[in-house]
Amino acid sequence: MDFELEKLTARETYNLMIGLIAPRPIALVTSRNEDGGLNAAPFSAYNYLCTDPPIVGIGAMDRPGGGFIPKDTARNIRRTGEFVINVVTEDLMHQMNICATDFPPDVSEIDMAGLTTLPSKHISVPRLAQAHAAMECVEFTTLEIGRSRIILGKIVAMYIEDRFVDPAGPYVLSEDLHAVGRMNGQGAYVKTRDAFIHLPRISYEDWQKSK
Ligand SMILES: Cc1cc2nc3c(=O)[nH]c(=O)nc-3n(C[C@H](O)[C@H](O)[C@H](O)COP(=O)(O)O)c2cc1C
Repeated sequence: MDFELEKLTARETYNLMIGLIAPRPIALVTSRNEDGGLNAAPFSAYNYLCTDPPIVGIGAMDRPGGGFIPKDTARNIRRTGEFVINVVTEDLMHQMNICATDFPPDVSEIDMAGLTTLPSKHISVPRLAQAHAAMECVEFTTLEIGRSRIILGKIVAMYIEDRFVDPAGPYVLSEDLHAVGRMNGQGAYVKTRDAFIHLPRISYEDWQKSK
């Protein structure tokens, strides 16, 4: 089938884009509102964009139903300039999913999901105690594009549980971390446990030798 994007609704475009741009890592973002209340929500329109400086991008669509009302995460980051990306692993999937529920403003997703927090080292927004890895970020800028906000964050510190770090690199022991990815908008995810394929890069020298 061929699709012309101009003829699709925003929902249809969303359905197709998130089915094709997959798997995606999931950032379970903790942020704080101006009254000090904590918020947690998952975002899979998320990736690193460069490492020098260390910038991540998160796409937060405005609230459904028209208008230009930002999701709490985007609003909090704009107002406080800080957030934490908690890495979503297999053991956190259900709690992550609860955090995506649209609870009333006075209800904490963190409490509802049975999660707790620990202080960050460099920013006032805490990380989730149950997350095996987390990145402390400060807002670099937020782009408002149509009914979406693209948050660019600069990572200022990382926490990774010792057992998931090879200090030699340092490298992340990704095969042990069991991160999960989101596939489409219909509740489909992928596990990374026992799913690794190793494909080393080929130098031009080796390429020539193999011919
Ligand atoms: C796995 C997963 C990934 C999600 N990714 C995004 C995303 O990239 N952008 C977005 O706007 N909403 C995304 N959502 C929906 C938000 O998490 C949801 O709207 C949440 O209630 C927003 O919370 P907030 O208003 O506290 O920021 C995702 C939901 C799930 C379950």
